[in-house]
Amino acid sequence: MADARKLFIKTYGCQMNVYDSERMAEALGASGYTLTDQAEDADMILLNTCHIREKAAEKVYSELGRFKPLKAANPDLKIGVAGCVAQAEGAEIMRRQPLVDLVVGPQTYHRLPAMEKAMRDGARPVDTDFPEEDKFAHLPKPPRTGRGPTAFLTVQEGCDKFCAFCVVPYTRGAEVSRPVERILTEARDLVERGVREITLLGQNVNAYHGAGDGGTWSLARLIRALARVDGLERIRFTTSHPNDMDDDLIAAHGDEPKLMPYLHLPVQSGSDRILKAMNRKHTAQSYLRVIERLRDARPDLLLSGDFIVGFPGETDQDFEDTMALVRQVGYGQAYSFKYSARPGTPAAERAGVPDDVATDRLHRLQTLLTEQQRAAQNSMVGRDVHVLFEKPGRAAGQMTGKSEYLHAVHVADPRVEKGQIARVRIVESNTNSLAGILA
Ligand code: SAH
Ligand code: SF4
Ligand code: F3S
Repeated sequence: MADARKLFIKTYGCQMNVYDSERMAEALGASGYTLTDQAEDADMILLNTCHIREKAAEKVYSELGRFKPLKAANPDLKIGVAGCVAQAEGAEIMRRQPLVDLVVGPQTYHRLPAMEKAMRDGARPVDTDFPEEDKFAHLPKPPRTGRGPTAFLTVQEGCDKFCAFCVVPYTRGAEVSRPVERILTEARDLVERGVREITLLGQNVNAYHGAGDGGTWSLARLIRALARVDGLERIRFTTSHPNDMDDDLIAAHGDEPKLMPYLHLPVQSGSDRILKAMNRKHTAQSYLRVIERLRDARPDLLLSGDFIVGFPGETDQDFEDTMALVRQVGYGQAYSFKYSARPGTPAAERAGVPDDVATDRLHRLQTLLTEQQRAAQNSMVGRDVHVLFEKPGRAAGQMTGKSEYLHAVHVADPRVEKGQIARVRIVESNTNSLAGILA
């Protein structure tokens, strides 16, 4: 093993980047790197970046600027840009910010050990291929050391949907599903390391169609197989497209107890005119119908969504349609964004909505969504939930974890241990969390 060098990784964007950062750390672990949480101590800094909105992409350059003094103090320090900005901008990043030594896209980070070596020999590698080989098969097995009780597991990558506003089909490439056996093996490994809850990840996770026993498996079939893994107690998945919620996946919400009653199902807009312009390939009505069927299967399902306001051509009436849809669904949690024109996407060519109008709409939508979120959270008071405890809370003697509905729950009780699932009576609803006592 080489001398212990230190690696600092900063992660932006979605959960898939969180998963990828762990895998990058493992890949470089094999080259002798250990993680540090101080950029000042690092021999190598990696920014795992997000390109989804302009603000996300610009953050990378301001962060890189902050590393200038570190590089001046330590000329051997290597700085790499990974993730979706790396994929979208490639070598251009090095032209704009010459202190960058390495650019690696989301599909080639299994080649990091070789790139790291090349860098030490003075090269400045750029790799934004979409290789045929499965990067996951080329990564080292994770170390068998303990970890927290929850984990992400990427089962599907990329997207073929091409929503008119979205960079993901370009930064992550075409939809690819990992084979069933590999996923089951990774899940069993995680469980052996103490994991009790797994969130299956994919940009379009419910479009999963992986090679398995007897042919192609759907996400529902994969979930049912994972549910038979002893010691794995909870399964979640994100993010889904409304058109890919098939019958079996809807049914699984009702009859698979390990599948948690929380679903992130983005709709983006409540106006059919805008949905069509977005190339979403569903209508407000078809979305509502999916929600209705899900709630028939699992009445207490907590729904989460994503919304974009100010999409090119959005009128006041279109926006009111979105507000009406939100009122009809009743979300327990949601993310909403002002439309951001992304280079290379079809919508970027279209005339936008004035910024003050979009800002005003975002404010109104967020006020409504926050009200719904608070109401959903407050409605938990007096109820019993099951909490998987993850870590000590901020107050002394407190443990914090998540309920089946993904609410953060704090309990101050010496009997509570990390990794335990306990029945908890909710006694208080605070701004961003609930407080409870063992039931
Ligand atoms: N695959 C998921 C989410 C992808 S990105 C899906 O299909 O919904 C996460 C969210 O970012 C999207 O749901 C969308 O609400 C938002 N988003 C994507 N592109 C955007 C853009 N150009 N401007 C503003 N928000 C955007
Ligand atoms: Fe982007 Fe999601 Fe649409 Fe795919 S389905 S293009 S990831 S918003
Ligand atoms: Fe961002 Fe890439 Fe995820 S653009 S949201 S990090 S897939």
